[in-house]
Amino acid sequence: MSSVSTHMNIPITKPMFGEEEERAVVEVLRTGWVVQGPKVAAFERLVADYVGVPEAVATSSCTTALHLALVLLGIGAGDEVIIPSFTFIATANVVLYTGATPVFVDIDPQTDNLDPDGVEAAITSRTKAIMPVHQIGLAADMDRLNAVAQRHGLVVIEDAAPALGATYKGKRVGGLGNATCLSFHPRKVITAGEGGMFLTADQALANRARILRTHGMSLSDLQRHHATSVAIEEYYDLGYNYRMSDLHAAVGIEQMKRLDFMLMRRKQIAARYHEAFADLDCVQLPFSSCDQPHSYQSYIIQLRPEAPKPREQVMQEMLEAGVATRRGVMAIHLEPYYRQRFPQVKLPVTEVAAQSTLLLPIYATMTDVEQEYVIDHLLRTLRA
Ligand SMILES: Cc1ncc(COP(=O)(O)O)c(C=O)c1O
Repeated sequence: MSSVSTHMNIPITKPMFGEEEERAVVEVLRTGWVVQGPKVAAFERLVADYVGVPEAVATSSCTTALHLALVLLGIGAGDEVIIPSFTFIATANVVLYTGATPVFVDIDPQTDNLDPDGVEAAITSRTKAIMPVHQIGLAADMDRLNAVAQRHGLVVIEDAAPALGATYKGKRVGGLGNATCLSFHPRKVITAGEGGMFLTADQALANRARILRTHGMSLSDLQRHHATSVAIEEYYDLGYNYRMSDLHAAVGIEQMKRLDFMLMRRKQIAARYHEAFADLDCVQLPFSSCDQPHSYQSYIIQLRPEAPKPREQVMQEMLEAGVATRRGVMAIHLEPYYRQRFPQVKLPVTEVAAQSTLLLPIYATMTDVEQEYVIDHLLRTLRA
């Protein structure tokens, strides 16, 4: 262990942008075409090819992609959708947007992902979909979840917001259910500033997603722009404005070129954290397995009951040392809005994890000196 004495300020994450992203944005501005257009189409193709799914539809966020997925798969009032509570609040909000009811199921204590047995036990005659989250970038147990879905005739929508670049049994996350949604928010492995993507193997579903993301219009802006005779659009469906702009997509295209590097660096940083904390009995390290290589969107640790201090004190001491941490993942059912609507929900594993997990800084440009500083201060805090 190296001991670093100079005070540093280390953020929880930092996007990696260079001249390439700057040039790409300026180039789009100079063309005068900034709304969803050729850059969005090119970004969609890059992501679809990388993940290995035929269809990708870019959206303004993962939240809007998830909402589209639910609508397109016919989820609405009276239906139930099984989700984890140990996830970002958007996973549950999108279910409520459709009028359906989120049914919260507990997680596996090792992986922090949906427990397939709990999912099966929660199925009722109203259940229509399972929405697993590949939390923090670790693939959920898709074989078992898909098997449950098949036995009960349910659709599977993957909330893969943190998981671009994660794999499951040799397949990249993104085509393991009926539809998958990704996020390009700056906390993710790559970012477009904001943005999301809906992925599916079903061409008809993707075509409907393209129409619904742009107000339900029968012709896109670009189609009308290129039309050689007067083209009047029509609206057959209740649509939304869930478009991504070409400015965002231009950044996303450049970030895709960096994806392998970003994943490799995150893996290296995670390996160093694993090594540094391996002997720390009061900490549970993130689950990793050859079957489910992580994207390490975040590095999550869980303080065991024998930890010498409560999590908030550890976070406060790290903050005072100049190291940003964040609580691990929320328990949605404990947030005031959901507690009031779903007061009966009790999920023991989720509740412990939500109280005792925290995220450490991880980003592709993190230097060894920065990482040693984080390690040094966490060890000091937990050994004091
Ligand atoms: C699991 C999960 N789902 C959905 C979202 C929402 O993504 P976005 O910010 O792109 O809407 C996030 C964002 O952090 C997330 O972590």
